[in-house]
Amino acid sequence: MDNILLQMKNVNKQFPGVYVLKDVNFELEKGEVHALLGENGAGKSTLMKVLGGIYSIDKGEIYIDGQRVEVKSVKDAQDLGISIIHQELVLVPYMTVAENIYLGRELVGASGLVDKKAMIREAQKLLDSFELKIKASSLVVGLTVAQQQMVEIIKAISFNAKILVMDEPTSSLTDKEVEFLFSTIVSLKRKGVGIVYISHRMSELSQISDRITVMRDGEYIGTKVTKSTTKDELISMMVGRELTNYYTRTYNEPGETILEVKNLTREGILKDVSFKIKKGEILGMAGLMGAGRSEVMRAIFGLDPIDSGEIFIEGKKVDIKDPNDAMRYGIALVPENRKEEGLFLIQSVKFNATLKVLDKFMKFIKVDKKVENDIVNKYVKEMSIKTPSTEQLVGNLSGGNQQKVVIARWLATNPKVLILDEPTRGVDVAAKAEIYLIMNELVNSGVSIIMISSELPEIINMSDRVLVMCNGSISGNLVRGELTQEKIMHYATGGM
Ligand SMILES: Nc1ncnc2c1ncn2[C@@H]1O[C@H](COP(=O)(O)OP(=O)(O)OP(=O)(O)O)[C@@H](O)[C@H]1O
Ligand SMILES: [Mg+2]
Repeated sequence: MDNILLQMKNVNKQFPGVYVLKDVNFELEKGEVHALLGENGAGKSTLMKVLGGIYSIDKGEIYIDGQRVEVKSVKDAQDLGISIIHQELVLVPYMTVAENIYLGRELVGASGLVDKKAMIREAQKLLDSFELKIKASSLVVGLTVAQQQMVEIIKAISFNAKILVMDEPTSSLTDKEVEFLFSTIVSLKRKGVGIVYISHRMSELSQISDRITVMRDGEYIGTKVTKSTTKDELISMMVGRELTNYYTRTYNEPGETILEVKNLTREGILKDVSFKIKKGEILGMAGLMGAGRSEVMRAIFGLDPIDSGEIFIEGKKVDIKDPNDAMRYGIALVPENRKEEGLFLIQSVKFNATLKVLDKFMKFIKVDKKVENDIVNKYVKEMSIKTPSTEQLVGNLSGGNQQKVVIARWLATNPKVLILDEPTRGVDVAAKAEIYLIMNELVNSGVSIIMISSELPEIINMSDRVLVMCNGSISGNLVRGELTQEKIMHYATGGM
């Protein structure tokens, strides 16, 4: 059994009001990619934070190379060769990329002082070796979320750890970056590094993992060899039942045009983007990363300026200068990245979910507790937001449940046009099915939905119509019935 690198035995962890880990077992071999799978809030990140010395263990044992170890701090974990890429971004925004990579282990020169130049030089070498166009001397705050994620990955790898944990590493990466990450994983495996890989993208797990351990409600359910299991088997282990009706969609005759966009142009980013959406319609937006889909939506929502173009709501030309204008016209946008959107992590679920609708229950500045509670309880229930109470701090929720709070917050504004940018990213299968169900209910009640998604099956199964974008313009317009992955990819890659 000398191939076993890590064993976690009967691990228990409780937080006030929540029993998060109940006798969980986990094992990792040298050179193995072992995936951890489970619904939002199952306890995956917590298990890894116990391993990383971020949370103390209540009960249970950890063995590395057969030796019982105590991991009482992040430093302990590092000394034991454990490195973690966290689900949430933890870089320090107002420090340079180099300072972040060497945080806590700064390179010191002959004078005994921190050698900033050397740090920048070494960090640059690392970045270059991944062919990243990121400058080691730039401040983290100026990077895109995807770039920050890549810096996190590189930082974790630079510790030469023997156990590397990746908690949702690809949630904001482009396909090209994912490819890089996977080739890095393959070379780390060859060196004998053991990798714990957490992701809700099942296709990734079958591509990269050797074994998969499933957790449910803080309990260990089982471990399967990736090659000899199926998606259905894994889902039923995860959810505890078969998932029928994954995509819910009933079709109605769409109504009048609600939103029309004409010749939206922004120098170098968007070129003559024109489209319409009708009442009760789901309009899918497909395209490769960087095609300009989010940019169109940000422009409509008043987040980015435009150089020219017009927007009409119910036939009337409108001038949207900022998101407040957009919201007044009944437009809501659930952004691509909750990491960017910034939930107020130290506020409660209730506060976050109702932030956008405060005026609904502000009667003479006094908050109407009943209305507030009704709104919150409705969404916590409908979206199965896993939280001990609505008073819980959002920062204490699991990653996917935070995502649900962001969505709930926007649903609560009762929009006429709801723009969803990658709504199911980072969300577990059961929650995906819930989100599809809610989308279907919304369009049945007359709401129009624009859904940007990189998951073609989701686009194909949920949309009435699909616009495909390429290089800042619309390259294809397909209707339900003629939607196939091949056709969409054809237009996404600029096909005529
Ligand atoms: N610091 C904390 N205080 C209180 N509760 C917490 C804390 N951290 C996590 N929890 C709770 O523990 C449970 C498990 O959370 P965890 O983050 O481990 O889930 P996860 O499996 O990683 O989910 P996801 O797929 O959404 O990331 C959740 O119910 C969460 O709300
Ligand atoms: Mg998590």
